[in-house]
Amino acid sequence: MGLTLDLAPISTTSVVLITKALNTLVAVTELFRVDNLHAKPVEGDAEILRGLTITVNEGEVHAIMGPNGSGKSTLANTLLASPEYEVVSGKVFFHGEEITEWPTDARAKAGIFLGFQYPQEIAGVSVIQFLRQALSARKGIDLSVLELRLSAMSWMKRLGMDSSFVDRYLNEGFSGGEKKRNEIMQMAILEPEVAILDETDSGLDIDALRIVASGIREVRKERPKMGIVLITHYQRLLDELQPDFVHIMVDGRIVKSGGMEIAQELEKSGYEAYRD
Ligand SMILES: Nc1ncnc2c1ncn2[C@@H]1O[C@H](COP(=O)(O)OP(=O)(O)OP(=O)(O)O)[C@@H](O)[C@H]1O
Ligand SMILES: [Mg+2]
Repeated sequence: MGLTLDLAPISTTSVVLITKALNTLVAVTELFRVDNLHAKPVEGDAEILRGLTITVNEGEVHAIMGPNGSGKSTLANTLLASPEYEVVSGKVFFHGEEITEWPTDARAKAGIFLGFQYPQEIAGVSVIQFLRQALSARKGIDLSVLELRLSAMSWMKRLGMDSSFVDRYLNEGFSGGEKKRNEIMQMAILEPEVAILDETDSGLDIDALRIVASGIREVRKERPKMGIVLITHYQRLLDELQPDFVHIMVDGRIVKSGGMEIAQELEKSGYEAYRD
């Protein structure tokens, strides 16, 4: 009898705690998960990704920092199923569904976007033609050229690009900064669920960096559930975008995760402590 009475207040507390925990669980919805991923170039035996694990929930911004050659771009390209790389083991999930074997077009259609470190020129294809094709592949709808043109121009204005860019051939003769702004415009128009931005800040002057950051913030405002993986070497973009998590990647693995303090610490001490 005494025992029952003693337990009663404890179980009430437990119920409250469990309810709170459940609420937290419900509020956090997993968007993207990479589980112990090992990958290598198709032509070559050495693994570049060597057990990489990361989870991105809806609305979260994750930054990945790491020394040159640690595998950040390989991760970005592998997540979009680039034919250059082969998954050796491990799994990739999107909205809880395993997509490890999905080809690039299926991933793009599902809403996985990659902003390239080195955006490629596409001879003879204009910015607007490219957008039209990409949008049709992503959404299965053919937006009228006029609608798309208006939408692209509105984003170009916001990103400080001249409207004449819509009719230029993709990335041909674009300056470094123009290429990066163009990647963000593509992201804005394609409305991805998760965007992996590989060194979007590299090559941007200080004003352009602010403009691009505010463009990313605007896209987030319109799509608050979108997850973002920001690959960067510098704290500046992180100051602008305030990521929820900062990860350090060394030799194909995440070796440390935390908040903005990690980026600050790196700025001071570099990667020395994380090298073998
Ligand atoms: N297709 C490939 N064939 C052979 N080696 C490759 C290939 N792709 C990447 N590598 C090697 O894998 C390593 C990781 O390259 P990756 O481009 O992913 O690095 P990163 O972290 O993005 O570097 P950075 O900060 O310089 O952009 C490098 O040593 C690179 O030379
Ligand atoms: Mg890279």
